Amino acid sequence: MQHHILVTGGAGYIGSHTTRQLLQAGYQVVVVDNLYSGNRWAVPENAIFAQHDAGETEAVCKLIKKHQITAVIHFAGHIVVPESLSDPAKYYGNNVVTSLELIKACRQTGVRYFIFSSSAAVYGIPEEVPVNEKALTAPINPYGFSKLITEWILRDIGNSDRINNIPPDQRISYVALRYFNVAGASLDGSLGQATPNATHLIKVACEAACAKRDHMAIFGTDYGTQDGTCVRDYIHVEDLARAHVTALRYLLSGGESQILNCGYGHGYSVREVIDMVQKVSRRQFNIVEAERRPGDPPVLVADKTRIHEVLGWIPKYDDLAMICETAYKWENTLKQLHRKPGMQTEAG
Ligand code: UFG
Repeated sequence: MQHHILVTGGAGYIGSHTTRQLLQAGYQVVVVDNLYSGNRWAVPENAIFAQHDAGETEAVCKLIKKHQITAVIHFAGHIVVPESLSDPAKYYGNNVVTSLELIKACRQTGVRYFIFSSSAAVYGIPEEVPVNEKALTAPINPYGFSKLITEWILRDIGNSDRINNIPPDQRISYVALRYFNVAGASLDGSLGQATPNATHLIKVACEAACAKRDHMAIFGTDYGTQDGTCVRDYIHVEDLARAHVTALRYLLSGGESQILNCGYGHGYSVREVIDMVQKVSRRQFNIVEAERRPGDPPVLVADKTRIHEVLGWIPKYDDLAMICETAYKWENTLKQLHRKPGMQTEAG
């Protein structure tokens, strides 16, 4: 049986990579995206596209019924930690309220399988690293809270199915993937992150390497880490996309609800990442040392044991050089094509 999958945020960075892999794996895909930060050209031609907000319950219910959707993969959301501190309502609105509306749409239409883009930001400043899924969740920014609340909504709706004696084959089951730091682009250079006003480290460094900006800043050099800068677990977007396809297969074959870290299990400092971007691009750019950025935990590294045990997921691209190379190549492609972020162009 060919399953039809609804992907919210499928015109965005991780959503578009996942859409492509889903199509390659033989699924039919319906992308729902309001194009706030996604790009129409990032949606593969053989996916169905509908320009809606994921929280437009009526429109989403119609699409679910029309295309006989069996599972929803929910990417749509805001993802910038500093912005969540300056505009928390935007994050609670779009990340929590929209998710709730979407989950309600799934309930109304009988969609049982749900995959949710959660985040390592739910851990806040973990007591132990690598951090495992049982660790205390104590976000230190509204972005992290918005993801954690959505996890709670899924957990509680799942529990309510048991309390209400819903037969097991009609209960909702979900996988919440807690992403660590996603970066890189497709190996053939045809797809990558095109979000406007980049704030993420590897993208910012690649923009500096491409002379799209004349310098970049290191936010905080006095953390208790090996070189004083923050440490993160960088995961290649293609590995992350594959984790979604694997999670989908797991749910469709009857797997129980899960919360799983998605990272490689080791980290790099901000300085190490910038050095790597300079190395692979063979471009030196200006770097200034700046104050700490509010809401940044010093070290965030995944314990990846559980995702391996549950999904059998094994990374293919656990290589910082390769992550930075693909990101840099993509940044050059964007520059050459003069694609303005947010602009709708033909897929390329
Ligand atoms: N950084 C700089 N200069 C920059 C940009 C970033 O020094 O120009 C630093 C940040 O201060 C931080 C590190 O690089 O220490 C990584 O920052 P990013 O903005 O790239 O990513 P975050 O760690 O803030 O957040 C990302 C995702 C979240 C996810 C989190 C999990 O945006 O969705 O990783 O680790 F939750």
